[in-house]
Amino acid sequence: ILAEAPARVEQMVRLTEGFQHSTSNFIPASADSIDALRAAAMSCQACPLHEPASQTVFGIGNPNAKMVLVGEQPGDQEDIQGLPFVGPAGQLLDRALEAAGLNRNKLYMTNTVKHFKFQQRGKMRLHAKPGAREITACKPWLEQELLLIKPTALICLGATAAQAIIGRDFSITRQRGQFIESPLCAQTIATYHPSAILRATNQERSQEMFDHLVSDLRKASSVLV
Ligand code: URA
Repeated sequence: ILAEAPARVEQMVRLTEGFQHSTSNFIPASADSIDALRAAAMSCQACPLHEPASQTVFGIGNPNAKMVLVGEQPGDQEDIQGLPFVGPAGQLLDRALEAAGLNRNKLYMTNTVKHFKFQQRGKMRLHAKPGAREITACKPWLEQELLLIKPTALICLGATAAQAIIGRDFSITRQRGQFIESPLCAQTIATYHPSAILRATNQERSQEMFDHLVSDLRKASSVLV
């Protein structure tokens, strides 16, 4: 499917409810590096999320990374700073990476959806889950990122990334921590999203989930050469 990705980029995004453009309009054939792809993504208007969001938050990290981590979408802080995983979830992820002996500088981190989707509540911008059409509209960017990086291991953080990459029926509860061959990487593994750990109802559960996240990161790194 990686070989078919350029053709899939040509797929038309729905022409209704703000999905007025094909994502392919925004990915130039010349975008043959992560930097070029990032630059092109800055003007993406393939789905309505670009309007209220401050900016596109593209992936960041080592373009030669052997391991890629994919989250759901940027949060409030990421939207402001224009960088993935810099808010509270990113800080928890940094602690997990360190506990797993992984260096953030050697990795590449990105999101399934590259604009922050939120509901305004007074001055607060509350996270809203991206919908299937937003995920589909944004997917060519993720496909191109992975096509260029060609990681050995791909880690899906949470159900949104796992379902977008592995399949709609994927269940974190049942399949977390198992290697699965996905269309985007032969060694794909899904684990808890750091935000889910932050939302855990008690300290014991939070610690248990954190420990699973660390062991899943370690497991993923075990296949790196
Ligand atoms: N949550 C995500 O999934 N991605 C980010 O970049 C930040 C929070």
